Amino acid sequence: MVWVQTKTKSELTLHLQQFSVPYEFPVYFTEGLFHTDNSALVDALCRLETDKRHKVVIFLDDGLSAANPDLLARIDAYVDHHAAYIEMVAPPVLVPGGEKIKSDIHFVEQMQQTLYDYRIDRHSYAIAIGGGAVLDAVGLVAATTHRGVRHIRVPSTVLSQNDSGVGVKNGVNLYGAKNYIGTFSPPFAVLNDIDFVMGLGTRDKIAGMAEAVKVALIRDAGFFDWLEQNADPLATFEKQAMAHLIRRCAELHMHQIGHGGDPFEMGSARPLDYGHWSAHKLEGLTRYHVRHGEAVAIGIALDARYSVLSGLLGAGAETRICFLLEHLGFKLWHPALEKRTAEGTLELMIGLQEFREHLGGELTITLLSDIGIGIEVHQMDTDLVLQSIAWLKARQES
Ligand SMILES: NC(=O)c1ccc[n+]([C@@H]2O[C@H](COP(=O)([O-])OP(=O)(O)OC[C@H]3O[C@@H](n4cnc5c(N)ncnc54)[C@H](O)[C@@H]3O)[C@@H](O)[C@H]2O)c1
Ligand SMILES: [Zn+2]
Repeated sequence: MVWVQTKTKSELTLHLQQFSVPYEFPVYFTEGLFHTDNSALVDALCRLETDKRHKVVIFLDDGLSAANPDLLARIDAYVDHHAAYIEMVAPPVLVPGGEKIKSDIHFVEQMQQTLYDYRIDRHSYAIAIGGGAVLDAVGLVAATTHRGVRHIRVPSTVLSQNDSGVGVKNGVNLYGAKNYIGTFSPPFAVLNDIDFVMGLGTRDKIAGMAEAVKVALIRDAGFFDWLEQNADPLATFEKQAMAHLIRRCAELHMHQIGHGGDPFEMGSARPLDYGHWSAHKLEGLTRYHVRHGEAVAIGIALDARYSVLSGLLGAGAETRICFLLEHLGFKLWHPALEKRTAEGTLELMIGLQEFREHLGGELTITLLSDIGIGIEVHQMDTDLVLQSIAWLKARQES
């Protein structure tokens, strides 16, 4: 801890307290997480105290459970086998999967009550197994119960394995505002099991790939080339190709959080949110009928065309980007892109203002100056946005 004695403008003396807290958490990439000979979960639990039985409560996404009817039995068998290290204080608690769990704050309170009932303390664990929505809600519960109990994430969708699950945020929706209540709170460990992803529905498998295209475009041209070269196996969800996509995408997200200088988003920029300003609005305008990844794919295409029209990106790159997204299975058009308010304002442009408000400070949007290189701008030209929308519309009509 450092004490700095300094003077304010009014010559009052103050003490500026400074300290920093190092964070670290392991991310495992595995398969067959609940096979009894897979040690990943035990290793994660025992990371700080090796010779101890660790108390855990598991919250399990009911959609994941329905798609894997034997999962509960497999978890039971795993826990029995590793009883020297794991004390599962109750059978896994099934919680609503998808946006439902984030849309009613009472679910948060119910889960906090569960942790209270089972006397989960700050050295015990709240484990979330499920999609990004369940991870977000359980993450909030873990971060706020006793001011923070240990939280292990087991993401089960492409999006949650390659993006949200390796991040440091949680949250639920309130007053109709997405992620209005939440915290920045790194997990204790993350366990990515590719087998969960393979059992996902087609639509969710495709949707999660948008984040990989996004992060490749702003950070890693080599990864973008790989995505193009492997578009066929990815479009048919070949396991090896999906595993590589998820791993590289997760690594790039982790690198940004660990080395980007602003893990808790104190500034005005969100460098990894390329294509997201319009995506967030599109999700809301369609009352979440368009999945996050589907909206991001459209947002990527829109901002690629905008980057070209504003002279930042060489012409032709936007077509290449659209081809890849379409090859992976995305549709790059939605009529809500053209929606206007009663006063005639393009709804999407209101999304720009909302994007700024969520972060605070100056509007900061990431565009492209090349494939693999993101560039920040601080204003968007309505006319060029309209031209970009018209271009997307013309493409899908041709
Ligand atoms: N915290 C962050 O940094 C961050 C970042 C991006 C997105 N998110 C949030 O993530 C959420 C979206 O997450 P998502 O895309 O993972 O989807 P999701 O959590 O909404 O799940 C989609 C559906 O799939 C089901 N499901 C989950 N895993 C399954 C599996 N393996 N097999 C079959 N069904 C399964 C769920 O029950 C649900 O019905 C949004 O709420 C979004 O706001 C958070
Ligand atoms: Zn996203």
